[in-house]
Amino acid sequence: MARAKIALIGAGMIGGTLAHVAAREALGDVILFDIAEGTPQGKALDIAEASAVFGQDVALKGANDYADIAGADVCIVTAGVPRKPGMSRDDLIGINLKVMKAVGEGIKAHAPDAFVICITNPLDAMVWALQKFSGLPKEKVVGMAGVLDSARFAYFLAEKTGVSVQDIHAWTLGGHGDDMVPMVRHSTVGGLPLPDAVAAGFLSQDELDAIVERTRKGGGEIVALLKTGSAFYAPAESAIAMAKSYLLDQKRVLPCAVWLSGEYGLSDLYVGVPALIGAGGVEKIVEFTTNDEEKAMFEKSVASVQGLLQACKDIDGSLA
Ligand code: LMR
Repeated sequence: MARAKIALIGAGMIGGTLAHVAAREALGDVILFDIAEGTPQGKALDIAEASAVFGQDVALKGANDYADIAGADVCIVTAGVPRKPGMSRDDLIGINLKVMKAVGEGIKAHAPDAFVICITNPLDAMVWALQKFSGLPKEKVVGMAGVLDSARFAYFLAEKTGVSVQDIHAWTLGGHGDDMVPMVRHSTVGGLPLPDAVAAGFLSQDELDAIVERTRKGGGEIVALLKTGSAFYAPAESAIAMAKSYLLDQKRVLPCAVWLSGEYGLSDLYVGVPALIGAGGVEKIVEFTTNDEEKAMFEKSVASVQGLLQACKDIDGSLA
């Protein structure tokens, strides 16, 4: 059977890491696309040479022409500009919206059957715009943020409690901004919901509160440390988990920015909720029950996303 074709749109730090992980895991042949000449070719060649060491027979190619993504099974979009210290993700909206237009048109023309995962920020608005610009079915266009935010939440919990990351299940919902919603009651340490884990002495309430806050600001913490860009290892791993669930029809339930049409009482927007990803793309949306406090936090986060969508419409009239 032919290998899957994975197109990575953007050959920056996340794009390069995606190419490396996808090749190491033999997920498929990789096209690394960027408008910068030489960068995708250089990274693709470097990883192709590494494949003789890690021992996987996959093809990697760098490209500057959208025609090279033709027939891709999966497109992962990282094109655009990352934030710098002192910036919020929302500050990127003007510049990255223009990039999404070009990328969306490229995917529409050359890879209309692909499952598309958007990583570009501000995430919930960019994936919404990318779906509109590409015209691809909504269940085939998703945003990567919840897996990343939940991974940060899980890691901080593992670090504090001393429990293996494998035995922690953490969930964050809402938009990929500082008012995202780490779901304390739905997240577990060793099978215990976090309030029970506090009662059992795995961590104190103050420690849990600090972890929730650190999770919300997790992206900014890395930006402040790196100074020249944003996180790339954890975002790449997160998108690969989503791509794998699609390509291997794993039917994993992962927190992703997905198109809502009535779920959670919302319509016509993308926001982070648990979604079952299989060969059909987003096959099901899982609706968590929420108490009043969780509902209020989720609504606040959704309101921020709606503000960003309005800003996109104000910038580009074709989105209105
Ligand atoms: C992240 O959360 O790491 C990304 O959204 C990048 C950023 O600007 O924080």
